[in-house]
Amino acid sequence: MNARDWDRLAAAYAAEVCDIFSRDRRNVVERWLRSRGLLRGRRTVLDVGCGIGSFFRKYGRHFGPKTGTDHSRRMLHLAALRGRGLKHVRWQQADAGHLPPALRNCADLVVCANVITFVSVAACRRAMGETVRGAKPGAWLLFILPALESHDAVVALETGRPAPRRRGATAVVRRDDRMQRFYTRAGAQALAAGAGLRSIAVRKVWYPWSDEGITRPPRGGEPPWDWLLTARRR
Ligand SMILES: C[S@@+](CC[C@H](N)C(=O)[O-])C[C@H]1O[C@@H](n2cnc3c(N)ncnc32)[C@H](O)[C@@H]1O
Repeated sequence: MNARDWDRLAAAYAAEVCDIFSRDRRNVVERWLRSRGLLRGRRTVLDVGCGIGSFFRKYGRHFGPKTGTDHSRRMLHLAALRGRGLKHVRWQQADAGHLPPALRNCADLVVCANVITFVSVAACRRAMGETVRGAKPGAWLLFILPALESHDAVVALETGRPAPRRRGATAVVRRDDRMQRFYTRAGAQALAAGAGLRSIAVRKVWYPWSDEGITRPPRGGEPPWDWLLTARRR
């Protein structure tokens, strides 16, 4: 999907797409941010592919200077509207594969949520490399990636067929009428390792069954999840 496609989706986005930061009912993301001391000291934060600004809406007040980038003008417009009350925030149109040099080495925390899902592996690597460069040396990065194991479990539940045996660490699947790359746990780990990051950890961020359109979930079944991938720049 290009910037125009995202522009077209922008108005419906808030209603239609699962916003993982507000849907994270077990507060996995917040607990991680707190445990790393990132919600103290007015840190500098860069959100690459910020969409309608969901990360800043939930956590922005804890940070100092905040930059949200996205290639979609409409998304940025909505982010600015939703983030009206926030201080020290700027919204900048930029392609994740070619971030402006001024955004290099700038942030104590870089966030990149559900963006590195491109069909092209080369595009994923390029966006990953650019995102990593946004962090100061030694700074933290937080990625949200769609989980392939979760997707397969939901499809198995819906169809009554067993989940497929996957060979690769990632796979491109159709979701919400668009093709997206999903990651296994190993695939998420490999993405960070391939970008030269250290202190890599992969955790589950569960969201409600209803976000997958499942109204009668199996009793005791594990809810669907995204991966929270965290790591540090060298
Ligand atoms: C699924 S949304 C996630 C938005 C936000 N990060 C969140 O978690 O709520 C993906 C966002 O990435 C943006 N995006 C996709 N490809 C991009 C690219 N090449 N450069 C910049 N932004 C991109 C889209 O415009 C969209 O706002």
